[in-house]
Amino acid sequence: MARQHRNPDDLHRPVLLDTVVEHLATAPAGLFVDATVGLGGHADAILAQRADIRLVGLDRDDAALELADLKLARWAGRYELCHSDYRALPELSERRGWAPLSAVLVDMGVSSLQLDDPDRGFSFRLEGPLDMRMDRRERRTAAELVNRLDAGELRALIRDYGEDPHAGRIARAIVVARESGPITSTGELAHLVEQAIPQRGPRRIHPATRTFQALRIAVNRELDGIEEFAIATARQLAPGGRLAIIAFHSLEDRAVKRAFRYLASNCECPPEIPTCVCDKRAEVKLLSSKPLQADEAEVAANPRARSAKLRVLEKI
Ligand SMILES: C[S@@+](CC[C@H](N)C(=O)[O-])C[C@H]1O[C@@H](n2cnc3c(N)ncnc32)[C@H](O)[C@@H]1O
Repeated sequence: MARQHRNPDDLHRPVLLDTVVEHLATAPAGLFVDATVGLGGHADAILAQRADIRLVGLDRDDAALELADLKLARWAGRYELCHSDYRALPELSERRGWAPLSAVLVDMGVSSLQLDDPDRGFSFRLEGPLDMRMDRRERRTAAELVNRLDAGELRALIRDYGEDPHAGRIARAIVVARESGPITSTGELAHLVEQAIPQRGPRRIHPATRTFQALRIAVNRELDGIEEFAIATARQLAPGGRLAIIAFHSLEDRAVKRAFRYLASNCECPPEIPTCVCDKRAEVKLLSSKPLQADEAEVAANPRARSAKLRVLEKI
């Protein structure tokens, strides 16, 4: 649980803050959705800049919502928080009559609040239960994956979501270790991975970094439904409304890019057909062909910003 004395500002630094605020500045007045409100950093800056909007903040982590509420308290009456997966937004917004939406922001991934709390089990640096659930109402934890998947499934998971070249060795080491009892703690898993990987020269990152990332992505099904979400959400925007998505993983960003390109395209005919026979028309315009990224100063101040990629579209 979030502790009342904790200050949201000390727990998570929002990435690309000025760029996000600038890109949402011209969206029409009305309802903004911060679909991963986290500790409320982006939401607070948006509410400060736009007196003509109300904001709904979603998050699947109840501890984050408690802290977002503290952070946003000065805007009481202008915001509402909901414990929800962002991928449920199109359905939620239909049910609650929120559309047409003025702007939607998604800042994917994990917050520092989650990473720095040993009880949440996200970090290989902190001893804790092997949990990693963002939404603690869900049942499947990282321990369950580590102790139940077979060697082939573990290898595929660590290779595909962690892009770890040693996925096979790590999977085998896990299967051997759990013969003497289940693996239940972050420290146990981190040690086991470290032992499984040959060390040649100095290490740039901790050997367990990629395995932990892969497990987190799998536990929270972070790569599922991104394209469907982006397409359905863009279709609920008001004309001139904006959708901004920050991705931290190349697989996430690829899904965002595919959805945005589809929404902006004027034709979906296969290349071998000489003239267009489809009805597809551009529904949005893309505000940049390449993703926007943090500059050196921001990366120096907040290393998490290094891998952030922001894409923004505007509804036609
Ligand atoms: C990088 S943080 C967001 C930080 C926030 N923009 C701020 O300024 O404080 C990501 C947040 O997204 C939440 N999250 C991740 N996946 C989610 C999902 N599928 N649905 C809803 N929230 C999600 C996490 O719980 C976390 O609080």
